Amino acid sequence: MGCLGVLASGLLLQRCAGTRYITGIIEGSYLNIPEDDFLKEDNSYLQHVVVQNEVLQYPIVVFRFSTNEYRAFLMKCTHQGTELQVFGDRLQCPAHGSEFTNNGNVQNGPADTSLRSFPVIKESKTIKIDLS
Ligand code: FES
Repeated sequence: MGCLGVLASGLLLQRCAGTRYITGIIEGSYLNIPEDDFLKEDNSYLQHVVVQNEVLQYPIVVFRFSTNEYRAFLMKCTHQGTELQVFGDRLQCPAHGSEFTNNGNVQNGPADTSLRSFPVIKESKTIKIDLS
């Protein structure tokens, strides 16, 4: 359930406020972030982080599914291009309410096209998002 629908819950509000924003480093066609940027103080892992860089028109959300499985999506609504917001395992559009899953698929319209995705590889302790 997205956080917008349950704003009365203080616990969920805390989680929503917990989105971590990271500035990625561009190396060639890759946008790199350290794996440790997913680590929380209690040594568990964040479900997602949002990666920014001045060369990007929109941020990129990276979801962590397991030690070696990450998926990255451009936070641009496929309806009319509004920047999306991420809540837990969902992305929501503040313009007309479209929702997307953490696989980039449309959950609710009016958007009818999946999010742009990027291949992600992990090399040692670095998460590499292929922008090419
Ligand atoms: S721009 Fe996102 S739903 Fe319309």
